[in-house]
Formats: sequence, C-alpha cells, structure tokens
Amino acid sequence: MLLRILKAAVALAAVVPAFVRADDLPIYTDGALASGWENWSWGSTIDFAATDLFEGTSSASVNSTAWAALSVKLEGTFPTYAGLKFDIAGAQPDVQIFVQSSTDNSQSPTIPLSAFGKTITANSFTSLLIDFSALPGTGSPLGNGTWDRITFQAGANGAVYHVDNIVLVQSIVVVPQFLSAEPLTSNIIALTTVGAVNLSTVSVTLNNQVVKIASQNTYNPVDTPSKTITYFTLASPLAAGSLVIKAGSTSFSHTLPAVQYGSIVQSVNYSISPDVYGVNFPTSASYINHLGVTISRWGGNAVTAYNPFGGFTNAGNDWYFENRGSDSADVWIGWVKGAGSKALLTVPALDWVSKDATSYSYPKSIYPDQGKFDPFNSDAGNGLFPNGSYITPVPDPTTVYTPWNTSLAKTWLSGLKNKPDIVAIDNEIEITSSTHQDMHPQPMSYDEELSRVINFATAAKAALPNVLVAAPSTCSWWFYWTSSVGYSDNAAHNNIDFLPWFLAQMQQHDKATGKRLLDYLDIHYYFQADTSSNNASAKALRLRATRSLWDSSYVDESWVGSNPQNHQWNPTAVDLIPRFRTLIDINYPGTKLSISEWSSTNDNDLTGGLVTVDMLGIFGRYKVDSATYWATPDEMGPVGLAYWLYRGYGVYFGSYSAQVNMANPSPDVLGVYAGTEGGKLTLVIVNKDPATPMAFDLANVPTGNYFMRHFGGAAGVAKWQTNITLESNNYIVVPPYTAIFLKQQ
Ligand SMILES: *[C@@H]1O[C@H](CO)[C@@H](O)[C@H](O)[C@H]1NC(C)=O
Ligand SMILES: *[C@@H]1O[C@H](CO)[C@@H](O)[C@H](O)[C@H]1NC(C)=O
Ligand SMILES: *[C@@H]1O[C@H](CO)[C@@H](O)[C@H](O)[C@H]1NC(C)=O
Ligand SMILES: *[C@@H]1O[C@H](CO)[C@@H](O)[C@H](O)[C@H]1NC(C)=O
Ligand SMILES: *[C@@H]1O[C@H](CO)[C@@H](O)[C@H](O)[C@H]1NC(C)=O
Ligand SMILES: *[C@@H]1O[C@H](CO)[C@@H](O)[C@H](O)[C@H]1NC(C)=O
Ligand SMILES: *[C@@H]1O[C@H](CO)[C@@H](O)[C@H](O)[C@H]1NC(C)=O
Ligand SMILES: *[C@@H]1O[C@H](CO)[C@@H](O)[C@H](O)[C@H]1NC(C)=O
Ligand SMILES: *[C@@H]1O[C@H](CO)[C@@H](O)[C@H](O)[C@H]1NC(C)=O
Repeated sequence: MLLRILKAAVALAAVVPAFVRADDLPIYTDGALASGWENWSWGSTIDFAATDLFEGTSSASVNSTAWAALSVKLEGTFPTYAGLKFDIAGAQPDVQIFVQSSTDNSQSPTIPLSAFGKTITANSFTSLLIDFSALPGTGSPLGNGTWDRITFQAGANGAVYHVDNIVLVQSIVVVPQFLSAEPLTSNIIALTTVGAVNLSTVSVTLNNQVVKIASQNTYNPVDTPSKTITYFTLASPLAAGSLVIKAGSTSFSHTLPAVQYGSIVQSVNYSISPDVYGVNFPTSASYINHLGVTISRWGGNAVTAYNPFGGFTNAGNDWYFENRGSDSADVWIGWVKGAGSKALLTVPALDWVSKDATSYSYPKSIYPDQGKFDPFNSDAGNGLFPNGSYITPVPDPTTVYTPWNTSLAKTWLSGLKNKPDIVAIDNEIEITSSTHQDMHPQPMSYDEELSRVINFATAAKAALPNVLVAAPSTCSWWFYWTSSVGYSDNAAHNNIDFLPWFLAQMQQHDKATGKRLLDYLDIHYYFQADTSSNNASAKALRLRATRSLWDSSYVDESWVGSNPQNHQWNPTAVDLIPRFRTLIDINYPGTKLSISEWSSTNDNDLTGGLVTVDMLGIFGRYKVDSATYWATPDEMGPVGLAYWLYRGYGVYFGSYSAQVNMANPSPDVLGVYAGTEGGKLTLVIVNKDPATPMAFDLANVPTGNYFMRHFGGAAGVAKWQTNITLESNNYIVVPPYTAIFLKQQ
C-alpha cells in the first residue's frame, strides 16, 4: 500500500523538494491571506504578518480562546485537491482541523494534531500534510463535497501557535525516508519508513559483527499515525554493546545496555478488576471495541444540572453557566452497554436542574460588569467580576433551573429502559460553590454532602435494586480531607478528615438500616505537581508521578509534599491506593475503591500515553476496583494507544495480576506488569526513559510464540503489532519512551 502521510520536519527541508507547484492553491504564504480567501475566524487574536517566527517573510500567529478558531473560506470551492499542507509551530498546541462546506454545512472528521504523530515544537516549524484520500487518524477519505472552508479549532484551554505556508496541493509526493530503526524484544528490529524505501539496503551490525536478517514483515496500519513499519527478525539474538542499523544512506545507532534482572511468578496471582479499563464518555460503540473499554462514565461538571425529563443540562462555571440540550442518558446507557461496556451514571444531587436549552445565569444585560463573555454568545458572562470575585447578588435560580429532588430522581431512574451498573451521587459537589455558584453559592459542608449522598443513594437503590452506588466523587487531594467551609468544618467533626469521616458515617448509617448504600468510595485523582510546561523536566516528573499511586516512600513533588494540610499518617506521600485501602479497612471495610476521574496530564504528548500505560498496570496490581479516564482519550492519540496496548481489538492483558520481582526496581523510569490467564503470560513493560534503551533478563518468562504490540519510540507515536518467537528470556530489549505488550500464545 502506498504511504500517504508525510510528516517531514522542516529541518529536513533540504532533502524534501518544494511542494508548491503552479497548480497548487496557496491559502497563506506571507503577510495576508492569499487572494480569494476570507477570514472567518472567531474568538482569536490573529496576526497575519507576524515576524517573531516565520518562514519567508512572515507567518500567521494565532491565539485562540477555548473552542475558538482560525478559519478561512474560499470564494468558490476546492473539490479536487489532493491534500492540505501547512507548517506549524507551538508547544504541542491543542488544535483540531476540519474541512467544511458552507453550502450544505457538511464537515470532515476532525483531525487532532496528535493524529499526525509528530511532536510540534514552539521554536521551529513542523510541516504537516493532510492527505484527502486518507485523513490522519481515521484513514477515511475526505470524499467529494462542495468544500470551501478550513478550520483550525482550539480545544477547551485555547491554543497559541504560528502557522505558515498553508497550501492546497494538487498532488502528493512522498519522499522515501527511513524514520527510525529500533531493537525490540530478543531479536527484532522495528523500522518505520515513509514512501518507497528500498528495504534491501538494510543491514544490522552488533559489536561490529554483521547480524543476518532471518525474515521480515511489513505492515501499513490504516488506523495509526505511524508510517509503514517493518519488523526484521534477526538470525541471532540482541546483546549488550553497539547496535548499528544502516538503511539506505541513513544510520541508526544504539548502545544496548547491561541487563536488569527480574523474575515473574505466575503462581502468585490475584484477579485484576475488569473495570479498571474505563473512560468517560466514549465516542462510539466501535471506540469501545477498538480500545477494549470495560466501563463508561457519564459524569463531570456538565451532568450536575442534567434534567432527564427535558433533555437539558448546564456545565456551570465550565461554560458560562449556559443551559443547553443534552443527549439522553437512557439512550447513552443503551448503546454503551450494547457495545459491551458497563455504564456508570451520575445522578444529580443538588436542588436544581436546567429548565430549558437556552437560558443562562449571568446575562450581560443584567450583569454588565463581568470578566469574560462567551465568544459564541456575547450576552452570556462567566459569573465573575473583572477582579475575579463572584457576581452578586446571586441570580434567582428559577431563571435557569427547575427544582430537583429525590422523588424526581427516583421517577427518572425507575423509568430508565436501560439500567446503569453503577450510579455516582453527583460529581465533585464539595466544590459546587464555585463550579455551580449560581445554583449553590453556599460552601458545601461535611454534613450537607453526607445527607445528599444518603438521600439520593437511597432513592437510587429504591428505583434500581441491583445498582451499585459510588460516592462522593471528590475532586482532589485537598478536598479528600476538608470541605469548602474550611478547617472549622474539620474542627466541628473532631478533626477527622473528610473522607475517613464520610466512610465511617456511611458505615454507621448502613449498619443502622441493615443495607449497604455505599458500594464504592469514589474519588478523582489528578497529580498535584504542575507539568504543564511540558519541557523535559516536566515530562520526567509526569512519568515519575505515577509513584504517587502506590509508593509510600515517594514524597510528592508538589505542595502536598511540603504542606500537606491534613491529619493523615505519612502525609507528604500521596500513596493513593494503599492509603485508601487502609482508610476503607478502618472506616468501612468491604467498600470498593473507584477512581472515576484521573488523567495522564497530557493527552497529546507521548509521555501522557506512557503514564497511562503505567497507571493501568498499577490499577490492576494494586487492586483498584473501577477507574475511568478523564476525559475521552483520542482513540489515535497517545492515551488511546495505552488502552489499545492492554485491550485493543479483543486482545487483552491477562485477568490475573502475576508477581513481578525486579532486582533493582527503578519506578521513576520503568514499569513492568505481568498478567496471567489460563497458564499463559502477558507482560507490559514501559520504558519511561527518553533516551536509553533497557534490557531485561526475566526468569520464568517462557520462550516461544508471543503476540507483540508496542507504541512510542523514536518516530513519534509509531504503533503496531506482530507475532514473534521469543528465543530466550535473558536479553529482552525495550527502546526509550516505548511501551510494549507481549502475550504468550
Ligand atoms: C481575522 O479574524 C480574527 C478573529 O475574528 C481577527 O482577530 C483578526 O483581526 C482578523 N484578521 C484580519 C486580517 O481580518
Ligand atoms: C493569548 O490571549 C490571552 C487572552 O485571551 C492572553 O492572556 C495570553 O497572554 C495570550 N497569549 C500569548 C502567548 O500571547
Ligand atoms: C468524486 O468526483 C470525481 C470527479 O470529480 C469522481 O471521479 C469520483 O468518482 C467521485 N467520487 C465519489 C466517491 O463520488
Ligand atoms: C535496492 O537495494 C539493493 C541493495 O543495495 C540493490 O541491489 C537494488 O538494486 C535496490 N533496488 C532498487 C529498486 O533500487
Ligand atoms: C494463580 O493462583 C492460583 C492460586 O491462587 C493458582 O491456583 C493458579 O495456578 C495461579 N495461576 C497460575 C497461572 O499459576
Ligand atoms: C470586585 O469587584 C466588585 C464589583 O466592583 C466589588 O463589589 C468587590 O468588592 C471586588 N472584590 C474585591 C476582592 O476587590
Ligand atoms: C419533588 O418535586 C416534585 C415536583 O416539584 C414534588 O411534587 C415532590 O413533592 C417533591 N418531592 C420531595 C421529596 O420534595
Ligand atoms: C521547565 O519549565 C518549568 C516551568 O516553566 C521551569 O521552571 C523549568 O526551569 C523548566 N525546565 C527546563 C529544564 O527547561
Ligand atoms: C498473529 O497470530 C494470530 C494467530 O495466533 C493471528 O490471528 C494474527 O492475525 C497474527 N497477527 C499478526 C499481526 O500477524
């Protein structure tokens, strides 16, 4: 199959011929949009003659607010071009691209920048090409249409970037290139390429000895941001020393290290909860199947005001306190369960839900003095004065909401055609005085939160006798231990921190009634360390921070580690899962542990995918009962690939966690997870080091046939899979920034 996606960095421009030909259609080159193109952008500050970073004489600098866009429209249509080429610079900006028709409002699939599998950097341009015959990400064709508009839309946090040399190309020339060649397992070299490379030019030497290539398999995965991938099976095994792979005029060198010793003990094993492989709001049934999603959550700030009778909701502070139409939860439960996933449904538990699809709490006409207004609705304000204080007086809730209570909840849940497996009692209501300040401006106290959980859980179990209840879905470390009222609330409860107090109260309540109301203690977990700069040290920190889930010796590299503000033991270590297991054992034994929101902290960066691999392994090993990623991982992005690694297309990590003993564990840079099922081994190894390959001697790893999958590595987010024969277990290589899955056949 012809390779259709070219992602040559500008640094390689010397070997890539210029693409702009006479019959190409320039959109932007220098100074201004090309003739015939109109500026249909919105919510963005755009300078079409920026000279702080450019190719030629200037570039377009773009600063888009949330969901705003650089959007350009042709006076006419462009139905026949082969692709769209552009150069972009920015710190991995959160941008998605789509093509539209202003004639019939049709739209192409959205293409996130992550689908190109290329790291976009701030200080130099990277050339990207969208092939209209196989769009990055989905691989589907753009198709015929009255196309006339191209939009670069920012995500929820906006986007800052430069674009240059935007051009519709008449034909796509793929320059053959060897992109990466890396050692994998005991005797494989994985080579990624674009274009019609000559694979016969590939030769391998190890410690200056030529190594024969025994066989090779080439794949062109359609649904991957990677390129063509070829696996060369070597006739003799890899070993420590100097590995050189020559391919055409390119040469790839690796220093293969001494082994790290370990052993796997399958006979020491226990079940992994199947529900740790969940996500929030999967996009479709095929998404659930492709990524092997086991549980799907309907949750977040946008469901607290969900009115199931009208089909309306309001995301509160997340989006200008505006009502809007909502999908039906009942229909949603139906299709997610139909696709084979469990459903975790959030039940609103405040006093109000949206009354319609259009009202909003802070109209400019009533509250002119506000900090920000919705770029799509200039009358809807953010509920804050320009100085950041909450708007007063608080709006009358009936202008936007209609009353909600336990009997309405019971009526709704009893009438569901499709039953959820788990219900959560609302979402992060401990911070509702900010997220939903319009309907609940008073800070939520310990007592109020407990009574809301008890009342709504009672209603839910009355309506759905088999449903399991998860609560209180607390947002973060700080609020695990106190309430929005502050430490006076702890003091009023004998200085018992919030969640331990909550568990003990639930136990007391359930003992009194003789019926368990609380099945899962549900928390949200976000690393407290700030990794948003995404520079080398932030990436390493993100990759180490997975230790906060299980390691009592890991002093948190955030305010938690220096100013813990609670009454817990060893308070500077998060030690999340063991800590909560212990708190449950003390305060309400038998309660399961759910983490219904968690994040890698960067969905677009490869390190976010590697963090996710590590965390999915940790959830299984440390016996989390249920976990759903926040929010929806992009199926083709690094986080989606982590789910694919463990669960893609029906090939699953073992259902039992087997023991892994590493002689010298190095959890900052390495995760090793073993599963077993039916006597067969599965292994996931994640090398979190950016530059150093790792090699392992793993006792008790049987030799023989394995199914192998991997992603990451030197060529961006290359991924693919093949069948291999593991000839020995005493030198298994995993390249830098790579996660590998091995399943014994
Ligand atoms: C293009 O539109 C954006 C967003 O409305 C605006 O900020 C920018 O000034 C416009 N640029 C030109 C050259 O019209
Ligand atoms: C982008 O615009 C926002 C205001 O909308 C501003 O706060 C921010 O500093 C701008 N960023 C850059 C890099 O110019
Ligand atoms: C699209 O249009 C071209 C001619 O403009 C035609 O050859 C082709 O068959 C059309 N494709 C589809 C899917 O309709
Ligand atoms: C590919 O490379 C081999 C080995 O260098 C050479 O013999 C062969 O002619 C090349 N094939 C093509 C099509 O260039
Ligand atoms: C897993 O552990 C059980 C005992 O709990 C044992 O019977 C079983 O053989 C173990 N599985 C493997 C593959 O060794
Ligand atoms: C913020 O501005 C509002 C309206 O002008 C004012 O009432 C309030 O006191 C100010 N808050 C602070 C903290 O300055
Ligand atoms: C809940 O609200 C409905 C409709 O307003 C009302 O009929 C019902 O009595 C209320 N139930 C409770 C428990 O307050
Ligand atoms: C990474 O970014 C952080 C936060 O901006 C900064 O403090 C730190 O010095 C940077 N580190 C490196 C290695 O650039
Ligand atoms: C690997 O082998 C299995 C059979 O064991 C087969 O179904 C599958 O297609 C093979 N996969 C690849 C990538 O070759």
